[in-house]
Amino acid sequence: WGTLGHDTVAFIAQNFISKKTAHFAQQLLNDSSSAYLANVATWADSYRYTAEGSFSAPLHYIDAFDKPPQQCNVDYKRDCPEEGCIVSAIANYTSRITDTKLPAIERQKALKWIVHFLGDIHQPLHVENLEIGGNTINVTFDGVATNLHHIWDSNMMEKLIGGYNLTDAQKWATSLTKSIKKGKYESQSKKWTKGMSLKDKVGSALIWARDANSYMCTTVLPKKGGVESIRGKELDNKYYDTSIPVITLQIAKAGYRLAAWLDLIVEGSNSHH
Ligand code: ADE
Ligand code: ZN
Ligand code: ZN
Repeated sequence: WGTLGHDTVAFIAQNFISKKTAHFAQQLLNDSSSAYLANVATWADSYRYTAEGSFSAPLHYIDAFDKPPQQCNVDYKRDCPEEGCIVSAIANYTSRITDTKLPAIERQKALKWIVHFLGDIHQPLHVENLEIGGNTINVTFDGVATNLHHIWDSNMMEKLIGGYNLTDAQKWATSLTKSIKKGKYESQSKKWTKGMSLKDKVGSALIWARDANSYMCTTVLPKKGGVESIRGKELDNKYYDTSIPVITLQIAKAGYRLAAWLDLIVEGSNSHH
């Protein structure tokens, strides 16, 4: 996701985490402001482009080698290479957050990665190998030349919200938090944390990855015509109208799951979810 997506995921998580988890995060991040998670949500995207952080670029995705829109799945052995992927990175940095043998700066980085990667793993094109996650599938959106990955990361949600600054993210997060607590996501949100366990971190992240990847088959690519039916074309209102509910749902899920995951890490339980 772009800035709006990551910041919104972080604000939703802030709305659901326990007091104890919030305190832990504020201490580790050395930030007691009202945006302590949102303030670090896009750090990983800056870091990946530095010389020091270039190793982390492949950790933002898993290139699921399947055949959307006919077939969709993620296979850990097949799809996560030696150098790592978003699934192994979530497992690894989850452990490092509370590893007191590590210097505080490393535990802080681990938390910043978890806040970011729990977001990215909910973007269907971050759990898909098709043309570098859709980056080379050129399309236009409202007449502007871009690519399929970018319109899913940013353009469609920015059109919905009308901006991408911290205040836009906070407002959107407030609205999604209400929908989760009492509203259109209320009944399903209890199932969003199903199967989540620190005893199987890879398995937990795979549930989220497969969930997101399934939208490649239902929403991202037209069932008829597949990628060739959208390449080089304007993505019309119909495409936007069917995609926006999925984008909104995935942002809501990411924020809610991030909160539950952080509570597990800090408290060893997420009883209030
Ligand atoms: N680079 C390679 N595959 C990618 C993906 N699925 N998403 C983002 N960047 C990528
Ligand atoms: Zn992206
Ligand atoms: Zn990223």
